[in-house]
Amino acid sequence: MRRSLVAGNWKMHGSGAKITGLLQALVQALGDEQEGAEVVVCPPAPYLPLCQLLLQGSAIALGAQNVHAQASGAFTGDVSAAMLAEFGVRYVIAGHSERRRYAGDTDAEVAQKCEAAILAGIAPIVCVGESLEERESGQAETVVARQLSAVLEHCDSESLGQLVVAYEPVWAIGTGRTATPEQAQAMHAFIRHVVQERSAWLAESVRILYGGSVTAENAAQLFAQQDIDGGLVGGASLKPEEFISICKSVGR
Ligand code: 13P
Repeated sequence: MRRSLVAGNWKMHGSGAKITGLLQALVQALGDEQEGAEVVVCPPAPYLPLCQLLLQGSAIALGAQNVHAQASGAFTGDVSAAMLAEFGVRYVIAGHSERRRYAGDTDAEVAQKCEAAILAGIAPIVCVGESLEERESGQAETVVARQLSAVLEHCDSESLGQLVVAYEPVWAIGTGRTATPEQAQAMHAFIRHVVQERSAWLAESVRILYGGSVTAENAAQLFAQQDIDGGLVGGASLKPEEFISICKSVGR
């Protein structure tokens, strides 16, 4: 049985004061949650220690937005998986489309980042998803399969047990244009099929999140789909009431 997961990706938003207020509200509403979905927040890296402190003793897990593939070295401005682990980070987003686009993260690098995270005991949330142009030209499945296979082929079977996949169609991110539950379900089923070719056991256990303009209004319908195991939420995760409502609209 897969436990649902809802992760808030705060991207490059917030301040110490705003994050404190947001987390206090989340801890109060969701901090004891053992029954519902697993909840994760992914703040910008400098706020990880603050969030670790505020989340102490709560059921909400801490995630990071990015990690470097190497364990250490001359990589100015980057952060290693072991460093993240020191601050209680349990999840890390890898290959978000914004990083693929603005920071040039390639499929191979994303796969190496996933491996580095797993080695440090951090579960990677690997993001896959097609652009509008790719969808309209019938390339959506090919693109998603390529992005995902890079990770599945790079990591060994045992470590893949920690993997979480997030399907985030680029055209649905921050646009208010959500994939319909049917569109999302179709791609999630395809993703599970791609995983199954690697391992039948993994296909059953891997959690596949949907991301892209998830709101309190559309979350329940999306999460009700058979192969949608939760969400990766951007904008709506910065609004405490809305995020709480999204988390509560998914069952365990
Ligand atoms: P929005 O929910 O703002 O569309 O962002 C989705 C996303 O990119 C989460 O990683």
